[in-house]
Formats: sequence, C-alpha cells, structure tokens
Amino acid sequence: MTVEDIVVDGSSPEGGVISVWTLNRPDKLNALNAESHRAIKEASARANSDDSVRCVVIKGAPPPEAEEGKRPKPHAFAAGADISEFAGKDSDDVRPFFEDNAWEAVWNISKPTIAMVDGFALGGGTELALSCDIRIASDRSTFGQPEINLGLIPGGGGTQRLCRLIGYGRTMEIVLSGGMVKAEDALKMGIVNRMVSPEELESETMNLAEEISRKSPYTTKVAKRVVRGALELPFSEGVLMERSEFVALFDTEDKEVGVRAFLERSEADWVGR
Ligand code: COA
Repeated sequence: MTVEDIVVDGSSPEGGVISVWTLNRPDKLNALNAESHRAIKEASARANSDDSVRCVVIKGAPPPEAEEGKRPKPHAFAAGADISEFAGKDSDDVRPFFEDNAWEAVWNISKPTIAMVDGFALGGGTELALSCDIRIASDRSTFGQPEINLGLIPGGGGTQRLCRLIGYGRTMEIVLSGGMVKAEDALKMGIVNRMVSPEELESETMNLAEEISRKSPYTTKVAKRVVRGALELPFSEGVLMERSEFVALFDTEDKEVGVRAFLERSEADWVGR
C-alpha cells in the first residue's frame, strides 16, 4: 500500500493533509493479504496520532497495462481477503490475524474516512469500504459478500456494519446469496453515498475530503464519535450523549472561532481545540 499526504490549501490550523492510501496489488485486484493488513494497521495508527491528518481516503490502484495477448484485468478497490492465504489453514492459524485486523483498525480511526471505490469491492473489500464513514463509487463498481461461495461468512465486520447501514433483509440477501451488487443498486440501498462516472470519481472524492478537512479538526472528531454513538447506544442514551458533547463544545476555542467568523462574515481560522 502507498500512503500520500495531500496538503489542504487554506486549512487551519495550517499544515492539514488528506492522507490518501492506495491498495497496490492491482495484479491480484488489490486483494488484502497479510502485508496489506499490516500496512493498513500502521497507517491507521498514524492517522490517529498525527495531528496534521484531517481525513483519510482509501482507494485501489488501477489495473496495469494488459500483457501482450492477454485480457486486461478489471478495475478494483479490493476483491476481498487474499483467498490464497486461506488454503489449508485451521481456526488456530487464522484467529490471531482476524482478532487484530485492518477492518477494525480503519473503523477505529477517530477522524473522517472515505472509501473511493472504482471497480470490484468484494468480501473484505466491501468490508473495508464499510469500515469507512463515507463511500463514493464509480458507476462501474460492484459490491458483494461472496464468502458463502467459499464455505465462509464475512469475517471483517461485514454482517454487522452492513446490517446497520442497509437493514436486515437486504444484508441477508447479500450474505446468503453471495451475489454481486452493482453500483446503481448499491446507491439505491444506501451502501454508497454517491455514484459518479470513473472520470469524476477522484475530484468528487477529493472535493468532499477537502471540504471536511477545512472544518475544525477537534469538532470533526467529536461529530464522528457522537454519530457513532447511534450505532452503539440505546436511543435515549445517545440523545443524552449528544447533548453532553454539544454542551462541552461551548468550552472550546473553536466554538468561539466559528461563531465569531459567522458573525463577522469571515473564514473561520480554527485552532483545533
Ligand atoms: N484473493 C486472491 N486473489 C484474487 C482475489 C482474491 N480475493 N480476487 C482476485 N484475485 C486474483 C485472481 O486469482 C487473478 O490472479 P492471476 O491473474 O494471477 O490468476 C487476478 O486476481 C485477476 O482475477 P480474475 O479472477 O482473473 O479476474 P476476473 O475478471 O475473471 O474476475 C472477480 C474478477 C472479482 C469476479 C474474481 O476475481 C473473483 O471472484 N474474486 C474473488 C472474490 C471473492 O470471493 N472475494 C471474497 C474473498 S473472502
């Protein structure tokens, strides 16, 4: 995987970056092997600890030029966990790997995350996109949880995150059939937030990432934590948690910065606390 920091012009506090991660095994449709997991976990830890990182974008490398006489490989975000690493393994072999995996590492990033999907996002690829806060896909993308075809089920949180995102019946259909879900249907179901042409995908994603990166980095973290509460807490507790976090924001400098900027019709110059 490669990690590139894109500086956000006009970000305040200054020096804010969008951390763009590119899954880089296009020959294998960016299937997630042990090395991909290690790299994603390392980048997730850095996204949490490095104050300059305002937002994370995850994407797949495009396919290489087709070799002479061979058909070109398709575009992919990630075509799942690397199936070649499953053969001959028993539960003791895979348990440590699945107990400390990339899907949870991404889910536990405290800052906003966006999956930019162009092509196949299957199995662990769909799950990686689901671990992000927002999904933007090209119209040639395909989602799915085909693990059932391998005698398996999703193991990267897919059953739970998909269910919360699109509901029980639709999740059951996807998990039990192992079928492919085209981008258009993924949009209708709410698996993806937006669907655009492949040509527009990068600008659409980066524009949103920049917009998010220009907010107070302190407040975006609070917002993410509170919205997450809706997945974890009973409703009345979630409302109380939101209220308490909202009230606590009145003790931050960035609330003064934001309110003053509105009243003075100027740009907010966030301080990040
Ligand atoms: N793990 C390991 N390798 C994978 C892979 C995966 N999940 N998905 C694709 N690949 C590899 C293929 O083995 C092939 O390698 P090769 O060229 O060295 O033989 C290469 O990526 C291209 O894939 P290929 O199957 O030839 O492309 P296709 O266009 O015919 O089909 C898919 C595309 C996505 C439909 C097909 O690759 C597929 O079904 N992949 C597995 C999806 C899956 O079950 N994921 C869940 C895993 S738990």
